Amino acid sequence: MTYRTLDDARDLAGKTALVRVDFNVPMENGGVTDDTRLRVALPTINKLRDAGAKVALLAHFDRPKGQRVPAMSLKPVVDDLAQLLGAPVRFAEDCVGEEARAVIADLDAGGVVLLENVRFHVGEEKNDPDFAKQLAELGDVYVNDAFSAAHRAHASTEGLARLLPAYAGESMRRELDALDAALGKPEKPVIGIVGGAKVSTKLDLLKNLVGKLDRLAIGGGMANTFLYAQGIDIGGSLAEKDMAETAREIMAEAKAQGCELLLPVDMVVATEVKPGTAARTVRAGDALSADDKILDAGPETVARLNAAMDASKTLIWNGPLGVFEVPPFDAATVAAAKHAAALAKAGKLVAVAGGGDTVSALNHAGVSDDMTFVSTAGGAFLEWMEGKPLPGVQALQY
Ligand code: 3PG
Ligand code: MG
Repeated sequence: MTYRTLDDARDLAGKTALVRVDFNVPMENGGVTDDTRLRVALPTINKLRDAGAKVALLAHFDRPKGQRVPAMSLKPVVDDLAQLLGAPVRFAEDCVGEEARAVIADLDAGGVVLLENVRFHVGEEKNDPDFAKQLAELGDVYVNDAFSAAHRAHASTEGLARLLPAYAGESMRRELDALDAALGKPEKPVIGIVGGAKVSTKLDLLKNLVGKLDRLAIGGGMANTFLYAQGIDIGGSLAEKDMAETAREIMAEAKAQGCELLLPVDMVVATEVKPGTAARTVRAGDALSADDKILDAGPETVARLNAAMDASKTLIWNGPLGVFEVPPFDAATVAAAKHAAALAKAGKLVAVAGGGDTVSALNHAGVSDDMTFVSTAGGAFLEWMEGKPLPGVQALQY
């Protein structure tokens, strides 16, 4: 993959860099509750400031669908960003037009402005060429640092890259390097862990992965569908019974491609999804009652998974193994996450993880910092795992 990075950007002093970031951060009562996405943007902002550029940040928040929705303003982000940056951050009430132009003109070299939500304009999501042109008029160069929005072909993620000299920011570059190390040119053997509730939402992903990985562990609710498809009693567990045939096809495809599938051999069941509820471990094949729900993988399944990680050089992880939000059903996810992180820390495993729930689960296990890389992306990470081209990344290539 060939794209320009900030190391290729010359003579930025006095120029205006339009920087697409992903500040679609969790907020409650008008305050940022997780500033990870603000933090990952700092290296790019600082690099541009050090080079004497003016930095105009473009971002979306939520889905206002082309309307000016006050509750979806980016303004509440400004103070948090200024604090993290240790420098003032201006705000412009609009991302195009006279208001934006005036604030940018008023910035000193190295100054930073956050422009209002690009999705307040209908042209953003439509990737309207006129809207992209209005954005382009505000700056000299374009930097995309929003990997997590790169699955969207919008004006600020795609169209704009075609109108100005375009560069990948530091966070974008780190994401792309990590993804390449995990699925592009990985050190083999490669193991994947895919969890989550439904087979139906991860069908493309599973199909792509069985053709690429040496081993694939399946966990979470979707594992129930695979167990059911093999005639194993799952009691009253969550499962997509109409996907049984599809699950069998995936198993056959894995076999044909030489990808070893790791399905649960034991499971933790309970009749209620309540913290601290009475739970018991059953073996796959044991008879369950109609109100038994499988809520986590069992200890033997985890031991097998850990041994499979020991025998691998690269891990790609998306989705928890159980209902990790409700202890004790976090046990398998936490144990496997700790094992992966210890291997990564010891330099024995390249361990890359991504997707909203996955990041929460790794944070819950307290191991995010020891993984080789944890993506900030949700949907973009999934689409990339599905083998789909990301328009925001494609537009940076030359
Ligand atoms: C995200 O939060 O995953 C990205 O910012 C993309 O947001 P979207 O799903 O609203 O396009
Ligand atoms: Mg989202």
